[in-house]
Parts: sequence; C-alpha cells; structure tokens
Amino acid sequence: MTSSICEIETAQFSDEFAEAVLSGLAQSHKNIPCRFLYDARGSELFEDITGLDEYYPTRTEIGLLTKHGPEIAERVGAGCAVVEFGSGSSRKTHILLENLTGASAYVPIDIDDAALKEAAARLRADFPRLSLYPVHADFSQGIDLPDEIANARKLGFFPGSTIGNFELDAAIDFLSDAGDLLGPDSDLLIGVDLQKDQAILVPAYDDSEGVTAEFTLNLLRRVNRELDGNLVISRFAHKAIYNDKIGRIEIYVESLADQAFEILGRKFSLKAGERIHVENSHKFTIPRFKALAKDAGWTSAQVWTDQNDLFSMHYLTRA
Ligand code: SAH
Ligand code: AVI
Repeated sequence: MTSSICEIETAQFSDEFAEAVLSGLAQSHKNIPCRFLYDARGSELFEDITGLDEYYPTRTEIGLLTKHGPEIAERVGAGCAVVEFGSGSSRKTHILLENLTGASAYVPIDIDDAALKEAAARLRADFPRLSLYPVHADFSQGIDLPDEIANARKLGFFPGSTIGNFELDAAIDFLSDAGDLLGPDSDLLIGVDLQKDQAILVPAYDDSEGVTAEFTLNLLRRVNRELDGNLVISRFAHKAIYNDKIGRIEIYVESLADQAFEILGRKFSLKAGERIHVENSHKFTIPRFKALAKDAGWTSAQVWTDQNDLFSMHYLTRA
C-alpha cells in the first residue's frame, strides 16, 4: 500500500487504529502496537525526547553520522536514491545528504503525515535540486516505491534504532522485505542501539521532565480524540522496565485504580496495577545484530560506534 503525500488515506489509518485498540484491549495481555504512538502530537513529543539529556541515542547517532559521513559517502558512491524508513523530522538525513555525492532522489516513508509534510518543506528549502517523493504509509505492511526511482540504485536509511521497536522475528522479516523492496544492488545504513547499564537505559525511557511519560500517555489522549474514548488520563501512569532476559526496554501504561471506560461505545475495565503494553525497544550487541541481519539476507560490512559504545551504525550490503 503506497500513497503520495497528496492522497491522504486518513480513514484507512483511523480504521486500523480502531481495530488495533479494540482487539488489543480485549486480550489478556493488553497491548496497542507502538506505531500508533505517532500522530502529529506524538511526533512532536518524540522530537522533544530526542533533545533530552537522558536520551543519548539521537545525539550519539548524529555524532556518528557527522564524523563518518565522508567514509559512508565513499561506500555509497554517486547518484543513489535514498529511501528512509520512519523518517520523522528527517534531521539525520540532512547530514547524510550533505555528505553524499549527488543523491538522485530521497523517499521519506512515515506513518505520520504531519511529520512527513514538515520534513518535506525543510528538505525542499535546503536541497532545492533533490527529487523528493514522500510516502505516507505503514512500512510494516508492504509498500511500493515511486516509479520515478525504479532504475536508481538504492540506499536504505533506517536510523534511530527503530529496528529495536520490532519483535525479533518481525525485525528479521522487516529487514528481509526491505532488501526485496530496495533491490539486489542496494545497501542499508541502519542505526542500532547497544546493550548497556540499566542506570543509563531506564532514565532514557523515563526522563526527569516527564516528556517520555507524556509521549506514552498521548496514546490514550489519541484514543479519546479519535475513537470517542472517555479515559481519564490522570488514572494512568507511564512505566519503563528493562527486561534483562530479552535485553529490551518495555513500555507500559499502568492503571492507577480499578476503573472502567468506553471506546467507540465498547466497555472496558482495568484493575489497579494492570498494564497495557505499548512499546519494546530492543538493545543489541554488535555480534547479535550482525547475526540478525544475516538471517535477513544482509551482511554487516562495516560498523561504527562512539567511544562509549552507546550506539552503533551498520553499513549492510546484500549477502
Ligand atoms: N528516523 C527518525 C525518527 C525515528 S522515530 C530518527 O532517527 O530520529 C520513529 C519514526 O518512525 C516516527 O517518525 C514514526 O512516525 C515512524 N514510524 C513508526 N512506525 C511506523 C510504521 N509502522 N510505518 C511507518 N512509519 C513508522
Ligand atoms: C523510535 N524509537 C527508536 C524510540 C526508541 O528509543 O525506542 C522510541 C521511543 N520511545 C520512547 N522513547 C523513545
């Protein structure tokens, strides 16, 4: 499913949201998929998160892209089309594009149309000669790329460690599908967050200013706004827990009381302490991520890390 930025498929996206919320809350392990965190307000809050002292991934990855930009550009070569999965503000892409020699086109893909439009306006201003083809779509559903880049060699760009938000099996499927989408000569530059002390990890997902909590709770506000919900937000709390067996941060909305609420006319109840699982953020070792990429048909040809081993960028080529 692909749509241009001009053909907004709002109804389809909101039907999917309704279906995911109603079925996710009817299960014993209550959950709402993390892609629904990103409406216009969610994207703004995510941008605020990226500037927090506790949230090391964004500034560390920007440092890696800035430092190794010329080396990355040498690997990529001239004239490729850059396809970004979950482009958000496209802030990191500006750094990549400044380094690449003559990228022929840029295709940002994002589920949030507002973020996509704002990013496209900034890119048009900064790179007036670059062909830009924004795609408003869910990248986990199978997408088509614009015909205009059919004959170009592609560089996939997947920064932010958004790969860590997938379950591990789904991450392999996603990377494998991305390889099929980008084609046999393509490469993929991907940001991957690394395992580290919980004393660093937990505050990164539970910051002192409460911005991450607001990002999580915005999902409930979105339910109220879009699905005629009557949830009282103050009766819920954001919880970030490190699961050390799996090596991931798990984010929940926890009910602070026994309570009942309605969504689209359906009644739900939660006990005090009961949780709704809304996000995972897997943390990897370099060998573990290399093995995962290999299972998806990619070879990690080069890895860059910062001096504190907080974050990594892998340059993947087709195996
Ligand atoms: N690439 C940016 C943004 C990362 S935040 C960075 O590195 O800072 C994750 C982004 O992926 C958000 O912009 C969100 O809207 C988008 N996203 C999340 N799930 C998605 C999905 N299933 N399909 C398309 N975009 C998705
Ligand atoms: C987009 N993604 C990689 C972020 C992460 O770190 O897992 C989402 C996020 N959730 C809370 N803080 C940041």
